[in-house]
Amino acid sequence: MEKWTLKNKRALVTGGTKGIGKSIVEELALLGAEIIFIARNSEDIKSLEILLSEKGYNVKGFSADLGIKEERKKLFDYLPLIWDKFDILINNVGTNIRKKTTEYTEDEFEKIMHTNLFNTFEMCKLSYDFLKNSRDASIVNISSVSGLINTSTGSPYGMTKAAINQLTKNLAVEWAPAIRVNAIAPWYTDTPLVEKLLKDKKYYDRVMMRTPMKRICKPEEIGTVAAFLCMPAASYLTGQCVTVDGGFSVYGF
Ligand SMILES: NC(=O)c1ccc[n+]([C@@H]2O[C@H](COP(=O)([O-])OP(=O)(O)OC[C@H]3O[C@@H](n4cnc5c(N)ncnc54)[C@H](OP(=O)(O)O)[C@@H]3O)[C@@H](O)[C@H]2O)c1
Repeated sequence: MEKWTLKNKRALVTGGTKGIGKSIVEELALLGAEIIFIARNSEDIKSLEILLSEKGYNVKGFSADLGIKEERKKLFDYLPLIWDKFDILINNVGTNIRKKTTEYTEDEFEKIMHTNLFNTFEMCKLSYDFLKNSRDASIVNISSVSGLINTSTGSPYGMTKAAINQLTKNLAVEWAPAIRVNAIAPWYTDTPLVEKLLKDKKYYDRVMMRTPMKRICKPEEIGTVAAFLCMPAASYLTGQCVTVDGGFSVYGF
């Protein structure tokens, strides 16, 4: 078996039109995977489909708000029409509302929990039958260093990412040997999610002070790690959270 390829693999990528998700779609496609990516905005989906099909990649978008139960159902009503199984699930959708803990409303807390955590849990459950039919299945959950230590993002976001790390460990054991399950914990990555925040010079300088690599991560630097985790080359790797943070989490004094 070829180790450094994703040829003949089918991948489902959530949140695939921007930022980290888009880079993952591009990297998996480059390595030969057939992909369905999901996002809400249909125009963004169309543009990415055109861009990638011009490069000769086998990539299709599907519009759904994965924070809504009925929309997840719509996706899983559609999938069996085209695929009897798939090999890769990338749970990348995530959002945040940055506040002090005492300022969160119940609705805000619920939105972060549902979009980041419950949706990841449900996507794993709904994908199980498709993945277990693959001969080498892999789930990659996009977590964050905020699930490992305080990063001043607001507590609900950190809580969802810590729970995703634990979900990764539980499923890695429960679903072995059929499905490998890993997570990636990025530090600041150059995407629309954090664009505004990093434009604040004072904040950016604070981030740089704590980042040994002295730069913000590029989305493609997460895409390559996600691709590796899905390859036969990583066939004994499961239950791990790979921190891609330019040294941030090991910076002591
Ligand atoms: N950027 C960072 O510094 C950083 C650091 C650590 C971890 N992360 C994590 O990495 C993941 C991706 O972040 P990002 O920075 O790439 O985000 P982003 O730039 O905001 O992109 C998010 C992607 O997900 C889609 N999306 C968002 N909500 C959705 C929903 N409810 N249903 C379906 N699609 C949805 C968006 O498209 P539509 O808007 O069209 O739906 C877009 O394609 C998140 O889990 C985030 O927590 C990011």
